[in-house]
Amino acid sequence: MRDNINLGYFLEVINDVLKEPEIHKMDNFIQHGNITTLSHCIAVAYNSYIMAVNSPFRVCLKSVIRGAMLHDFFLYDWHDKNKGFRWHGFKHPKIALNNAKKFFDLNNIEKDIIVRHMWPLTVIPPKYLESFIVSIADKTVSVLETFKLFKSKFQMINRKLALI
Ligand SMILES: [Fe+2]
Ligand SMILES: [Fe+2]
Repeated sequence: MRDNINLGYFLEVINDVLKEPEIHKMDNFIQHGNITTLSHCIAVAYNSYIMAVNSPFRVCLKSVIRGAMLHDFFLYDWHDKNKGFRWHGFKHPKIALNNAKKFFDLNNIEKDIIVRHMWPLTVIPPKYLESFIVSIADKTVSVLETFKLFKSKFQMINRKLALI
């Protein structure tokens, strides 16, 4: 049986991740266009959640949301090639995973989501359907953000995410 979209549940899982102060450092870096990495991760989490709910297969919704929130937790400006951040596309999933492990207790699905989200650029494919979902949502959101087409339904209020 399919789950229904429950934005209250989505916000509950996101806000639990946002309790960790380190996560807010992602707001100091631009991902695409004028979108910060934190906003990008929230957008990917939301799109992944919608895809997961609509999937004909059973997926772990909580892992999808948490993995997506942490998939780009690399904490540097990837546009600055002079600061040694070359090969960003290949390297950042492992950096994000190492950072995420320091602050969160991750299950195997969440770890796979983070470390495989750049597939097929990084050659080893994801192990779980949840990881494929986040990888597709990440690419979709990135294109929308680059061309300034992404409209968010959310805003941060006192470091918590809320529906607008
Ligand atoms: Fe990424
Ligand atoms: Fe991303």
